[in-house]
Amino acid sequence: MKTTIHRFLLLSILFISKLCQSSAVHEDLYVVPSPVIGNGDGTLASPYSSLQQALQHVESERIRTNTTSLSRTTVHLYPTYHFVNTVHITQAHNRIRLTTMTEEYATLFDELFTREKSHQRLKQAVISGGMPVTGWTHVSGNVYSAVVPSPLFVNQLFVNNQRIVRTRIPTNFSEYLQYAAPLNDSIQSRYGFQYVPGQFNYTSLSDAMVIIYHSWTESHHYIDRLIPSNNTIFFTNPSQYPIGEFTQQAQRRFHIENLCEALVANSFCFVNETKTVFLMTDGSYDPTTAQIITSVQEIVVSLVSNSTTDPVRDFIVDNIAIQHGAWHIGRTEQANSASAAFLTSVAFFIANATSITISNVEISHTGSYGLRLREGTSNIVFMNSLINDTGAGGVWVGDWATSPSILANSNKILSNEISYGGNVFPSAVGVLVFRAYDIIIADNSIHHHRYNGVSVGSQNGYDESFTWKILIIGNYIYTIGQHILCDQGGIYTIGIQPGTIIHGNVIKNVYSYAVYMWGIYLDDGASNILVSNNVVYNTGWSSLFQHYGANNTIVNNVFARASLIEPPHPGDAFPDGDVRIQLAENHTSWTYTRNIVYDVYQGANHSAYKTDPHVTSISNNNVYFNPYGTLLLFGPDKVPFDEWQKAGHDNGSVMADPLFLGDVNQCDFFTVKPNSPAAELGFVNLTKPSQWSPGCDDGGGEAQISNQFYRW
Ligand SMILES: *[C@@H]1O[C@H](CO)[C@@H](O)[C@H](O)[C@H]1NC(C)=O
Ligand SMILES: *[C@@H]1O[C@H](CO)[C@@H](O)[C@H](O)[C@H]1NC(C)=O
Ligand SMILES: *[C@@H]1O[C@H](CO)[C@@H](O)[C@H](O)[C@H]1NC(C)=O
Ligand SMILES: *[C@@H]1O[C@H](CO)[C@@H](O)[C@H](O)[C@H]1NC(C)=O
Ligand SMILES: *[C@@H]1O[C@H](CO)[C@@H](O)[C@H](O)[C@H]1NC(C)=O
Ligand SMILES: *[C@@H]1O[C@H](CO)[C@@H](O)[C@H](O)[C@H]1NC(C)=O
Ligand SMILES: *[C@@H]1O[C@H](CO)[C@@H](O)[C@H](O)[C@H]1NC(C)=O
Ligand SMILES: *[C@@H]1O[C@H](CO)[C@@H](O)[C@H](O)[C@H]1NC(C)=O
Ligand SMILES: *[C@@H]1O[C@H](CO)[C@@H](O)[C@H](O)[C@H]1NC(C)=O
Ligand SMILES: *[C@@H]1O[C@H](CO)[C@@H](O)[C@H](O)[C@H]1NC(C)=O
Ligand SMILES: *[C@@H]1O[C@H](CO)[C@@H](O)[C@H](O)[C@H]1NC(C)=O
Ligand SMILES: *[C@@H]1O[C@H](CO)[C@@H](O)[C@H](O)[C@H]1NC(C)=O
Repeated sequence: MKTTIHRFLLLSILFISKLCQSSAVHEDLYVVPSPVIGNGDGTLASPYSSLQQALQHVESERIRTNTTSLSRTTVHLYPTYHFVNTVHITQAHNRIRLTTMTEEYATLFDELFTREKSHQRLKQAVISGGMPVTGWTHVSGNVYSAVVPSPLFVNQLFVNNQRIVRTRIPTNFSEYLQYAAPLNDSIQSRYGFQYVPGQFNYTSLSDAMVIIYHSWTESHHYIDRLIPSNNTIFFTNPSQYPIGEFTQQAQRRFHIENLCEALVANSFCFVNETKTVFLMTDGSYDPTTAQIITSVQEIVVSLVSNSTTDPVRDFIVDNIAIQHGAWHIGRTEQANSASAAFLTSVAFFIANATSITISNVEISHTGSYGLRLREGTSNIVFMNSLINDTGAGGVWVGDWATSPSILANSNKILSNEISYGGNVFPSAVGVLVFRAYDIIIADNSIHHHRYNGVSVGSQNGYDESFTWKILIIGNYIYTIGQHILCDQGGIYTIGIQPGTIIHGNVIKNVYSYAVYMWGIYLDDGASNILVSNNVVYNTGWSSLFQHYGANNTIVNNVFARASLIEPPHPGDAFPDGDVRIQLAENHTSWTYTRNIVYDVYQGANHSAYKTDPHVTSISNNNVYFNPYGTLLLFGPDKVPFDEWQKAGHDNGSVMADPLFLGDVNQCDFFTVKPNSPAAELGFVNLTKPSQWSPGCDDGGGEAQISNQFYRW
């Protein structure tokens, strides 16, 4: 009775609002994914039941009326899950705004929904590339099973909006297995290794995946066969480099996923033959009533025109979520490359598009990257949004091999939180830029990634890079690396990049598994880059490292608390100090001025400024300090400060306490007192990013400053 009254009321209101609409293309379209309410004509009184219907309507109306419609159409989604096949937005959909309907309208529909248990009211509409997994039956203890339709292969599961991991051996995520020996044959060594007897003693290996750690990447393999006579395993797909090539960085580490023998609380496995998911709960929820979703679509929303000259234009996406993008690896595909850039899947894919605004959007629970801005994109603004819990990284701009005439350009990544990446592919990065120009990455909080925080460039060395004017400004980048892979940075750059500026960022807690972990990393050929006003602290190795490059300017930065990781084993490589240039070249490597180095090493001596023999660099007006009286050393011959200065370096620089206002040991912010010797040399105070948090840990209370992760 109650429902009937409300329905009558609702329809009256809606009818009036409908009368007010006159144009052929409704300016407002409503989508409520319910067979009871939806399937109408898109009006409030009679909404569509799917987003695709709304898009189709706009397209066909524009064709019918022979207009490209000058007015904007707003598509209002009811705040619940909208399970979709890949949503294709093309140039037929210009000037649409996609958003969640207002609270007021949503509440009206709620009244009609009260009897429909299937409709969960959410904060925002969720465009989901997944599907609910239902029909769970109890197996034993906390183990439940469900069968999914063919051809699904379940490799991600989200229970009540939280990722549940695939089973892993070893079950402890900070532990690894180690194989016995690499294979010597150059081809075979990319397809297998010699295992330790017992490592693969499981009833079925047909759905198992072996993940092998290299240096800056991991590779993912299906198992082809075991040869017990000589303990050799062969995979169906290769790694990029021979397995075992990176001795120190890899330590023969691997783990195995998706074995049902390894079920522990809050994990699942999948048996492909019977299409059965097995889920072990922790006892706190009941799978028969919980919301359980698996990812299906490798691209959830595709905003792509087939032509660079006729791009999708003027499209707004705000106040919605995009979730449950899938990942997939072909059985013979090489699933291994730097930054996990072999991936083609992405939750939100944009190419050949201009003037697109994406704000207050959540992209989460994905198997791959969150957002990709590929060729032919310009004036895309991605702001005030969250990319969280991704299988790979956050945002990826540009591509390796795009023709220079259609590079991504003039795109902005502003004030977002980009966090908890690398759940499936740890080598992925927070924000990745390949060939592109005029890109602004500003005021983001980028944290809890397993490889680089921000990575810019795709060309090694001094060849033309097609990457320029990338502004990385005011970002707070922390808890990067997390002791898993090696050879990485908070901000990583490679290749010649005229106009690239790294300014005002705060980088904290960058840790590799074993070696090569730097705050700001200028790798092969990184040139013409300005590094200014950044604060870098808590890094396993140097705050700043230049492998090789030219014309870089390092000015007004604070480099504190570097090289914190004591190598645990005799013979391990020792961290390199505070700042370092590796390769000697026949040009000046960098100009280094008005920086503060605050070294906290307590021991015999420590490199404050390390270079290989014959490196040319310009340094002046810097402040160096160690509060514990440790002797700081300079240059290739590791000489004390006065000798270094006598040899013509660091004119005007001083060895003195920079007088920070806060407590360095508590990782307070690094502003300096008015009477700081650095201020006297022209150093200006740095700006604290709004999301910055004090304290030396990662905010989650995890002890990052530890070498306990580097073991074998
Ligand atoms: C559609 O409009 C364009 C110009 O706006 C016109 O040239 C064309 O003939 C129209 N097509 C039809 C089928 O009316
Ligand atoms: C995981 O392994 C590490 C290293 O062996 C150990 O310190 C930690 O306690 C283990 N965690 C659990 C939950 O067993
Ligand atoms: C590879 O070659 C080394 C040295 O010749 C040998 O000791 C090792 O046993 C070989 N490994 C395998 C897997 O054949
Ligand atoms: C592996 O399994 C085989 C056959 O079940 C058994 O003979 C062998 O002892 C096992 N090896 C290890 C190391 O557990
Ligand atoms: C192990 O046996 C396989 C199959 O006979 C062979 O292809 C491979 O070369 C052997 N590996 C070694 C290291 O002998
Ligand atoms: C799952 O099984 C189907 C056939 O039943 C097969 O085509 C597919 O390749 C299998 N998937 C994987 C990832 O092995
Ligand atoms: C691109 O898509 C538009 C609209 O869907 C279509 O009319 C056109 O033929 C397509 N062009 C190419 C080159 O495929
Ligand atoms: C973008 O447009 C170009 C042609 O202008 C086309 O080659 C390319 O495939 C388009 N990109 C996508 C993702 O469709
Ligand atoms: C992001 O994901 C992590 C891990 O799944 C979760 O703990 C955290 O609450 C999420 N952050 C936000 C802002 O939703
Ligand atoms: C460095 O700057 C000089 C002088 O402007 C220029 O000639 C040279 O090409 C630059 N080096 C690189 C690698 O861009
Ligand atoms: C500088 O070094 C590069 C390679 O290291 C070499 O190709 C080039 O000729 C050298 N230039 C000069 C002027 O020596
Ligand atoms: C730096 O900022 C702090 C806090 O605002 C202020 O107290 C201090 O005087 C400033 N230092 C200089 C050198 O301007």
